[in-house]
Amino acid sequence: MANTATRHKRPGQSPDKSIPEIATGARITASVYTSHVPAIGAALDLGKSSEPYWQPLFKGYERSKEWFRENTPDVVFLVYNDHATAFSLEMIPTFAIGCAERFQPADEGWGPRPVPVVMGHPELAAHIAQSVIQDDFDLTIVNKMDVDHGLTVPLSLMCGQPQAWPCPVIPFAVNVVQYPAPSGRRCFLLGQAIRRAVESYDRPLKVQIWGTGGMSHQLQGPRAGLINQEFDQAFLDRLIADPESLSHMPHIDYVREAGSEGIELVMWLIARGAMGGQPGDKPPHVVHRFYHVPASNTAVGHLILENPQ
Ligand code: DHB
Ligand code: FE
Repeated sequence: MANTATRHKRPGQSPDKSIPEIATGARITASVYTSHVPAIGAALDLGKSSEPYWQPLFKGYERSKEWFRENTPDVVFLVYNDHATAFSLEMIPTFAIGCAERFQPADEGWGPRPVPVVMGHPELAAHIAQSVIQDDFDLTIVNKMDVDHGLTVPLSLMCGQPQAWPCPVIPFAVNVVQYPAPSGRRCFLLGQAIRRAVESYDRPLKVQIWGTGGMSHQLQGPRAGLINQEFDQAFLDRLIADPESLSHMPHIDYVREAGSEGIELVMWLIARGAMGGQPGDKPPHVVHRFYHVPASNTAVGHLILENPQ
């Protein structure tokens, strides 16, 4: 719901047409897209990032870390999926927004990753929750949650190994683990609602939205290890230039072309929707594009897109 009240002039105040309206609210400045393969986190945590297997992958994120240091936002809105860590078959929210002050790195079976606690932004998260829910998208509000590799690996890739993460993070968990997952279309439209929510927050915060998961991978069954580079590259092309048409791609195409876990890519459409992406919109600036095979059993894809100032 657009909060126009803060932009209204006081009664009796005459509009001064000579003064251009200055945007005083929050805005989405950029989006980041990246795979979140857990073995990447383990490679970093165990000091293996310069080994020959991992070196080309981490090299692809050098530019990203430099960009992030120069463009650290006030808040990252981080779209990821929980891998049966905080949630389980007992409770499966389709979309869950983390409104807590802090989120602990989860123990996924080998102890928690040795990474900083994730500080949230309860005020902006609560604002986005009220705006998006009243804009017709149902969200689950989460006030206590541990965060798994889906969230911490992207932070490690973009920020390295700092003592504290450089800005607050709002975790936004999407169910892509247990059928039925949300459609790409719904994710894209939700991204647009998140953009409206951010833009109606009346503090001048720079917000980045990150979409994580993917690219093509299948972790189970006879097709385990499936990687489809042609599909992945076409997905990146369309995500940049024509996300609206990409958002109509049905689930079955993700599964057939990108493997059973390739469905994680619908989360990238949330981030892209929050950048605009209507037909006729100017495509955002591509700051960085990187693709690498393999990491663990998967393809790694990465994009940084900036909105015009
Ligand atoms: C793996 C797990 C993931 O969640 C993912 O997105 C990619 C790879 C893995 O276990 O290798
Ligand atoms: Fe995953």
